[in-house]
Amino acid sequence: MAQVKETPLLEMRGVSKYFGSVNALQDISLQVNAGEVTCVLGDNGAGKSTLIKMLSGVHSPDAGELLIEGRPVHLPNPRAAQAQGIATVFQDLATVPLMSIWRNFFLGNEPTKGWGPLRRMDVGKAKTIMHSELAKIGIDVRDPNQTVGTLSGGERQAVAIARAVYFGARVLILDEPTSALGVRQSGVVLKYIVQARDMGKAVIFITHNPNHAFLVGDRFVLLKRGRMMGSYLRSETSVEALTEMMAGGAELQQLSDELAKLADAPDIEEIAKEARELAQGAEG
Ligand SMILES: Nc1ncnc2c1ncn2[C@@H]1O[C@H](COP(=O)(O)OP(=O)(O)OP(=O)(O)O)[C@@H](O)[C@H]1O
Ligand SMILES: [Mg+2]
Repeated sequence: MAQVKETPLLEMRGVSKYFGSVNALQDISLQVNAGEVTCVLGDNGAGKSTLIKMLSGVHSPDAGELLIEGRPVHLPNPRAAQAQGIATVFQDLATVPLMSIWRNFFLGNEPTKGWGPLRRMDVGKAKTIMHSELAKIGIDVRDPNQTVGTLSGGERQAVAIARAVYFGARVLILDEPTSALGVRQSGVVLKYIVQARDMGKAVIFITHNPNHAFLVGDRFVLLKRGRMMGSYLRSETSVEALTEMMAGGAELQQLSDELAKLADAPDIEEIAKEARELAQGAEG
């Protein structure tokens, strides 16, 4: 019997992107499902950010197509992506540090009350919504007027994630949300990723950390110099395999040889001693 395959929520088929003569991405195909975490892994310059910028309407692909629920779509700008329920949380631009938490949560989409010339922001309602939305992902905001700059890196990511979820995102894209965070805060962000997935969101998690990826990922897409090295389900891979593929076994061996050579090299004290002796010899 032929198996009926579910249509992925979001799909990339044979997508390529050039910047002048730089081939940033070549023939990328991937599928993203609701209720799953898809990890995009790759070293610096692999093309991870370029890939998600095409999904968030920042860049248009030069070849290939994007499909949402099986239908080809064009995302000419970030608004078009948002209208399709694709929300992107960028590491640095996710929140405005000097604005209060509640203002950051709405960023121009504040609820209003009154009509016509009397229409104004409903601050009370805004704070209540923000409070309950953040509570849903386990953050208890004591003072909504507190500026976001006073929150920890992990909590700031949480505000951005809660906002995306509240404004109806179906696909949540996180570009390296844990790269600047310590172990505990990374754990906090990984927990939000799992919570968003359990709410039925399709989460795309960009990282160059295979350990973080494997803790939460259902699928893993590996990029290297703009090309797809592979796409694996959780059952088909392991942290070790992902690490090995990212670093490249041969490259790791070379690095380890180089470090061993450094360890054999005469240390700085010996070099300094020799230099002193030489200098004394020249004087005497
Ligand atoms: N706007 C641009 N103009 C020209 N080249 C670009 C542009 N954006 C990206 N590139 C190039 O495309 C390649 C992929 O860059 P990209 O930012 O997607 O990598 P990345 O995997 O996100 O890296 P990182 O881990 O450092 O964030 C790089 O060689 C980069 O220099
Ligand atoms: Mg990047």
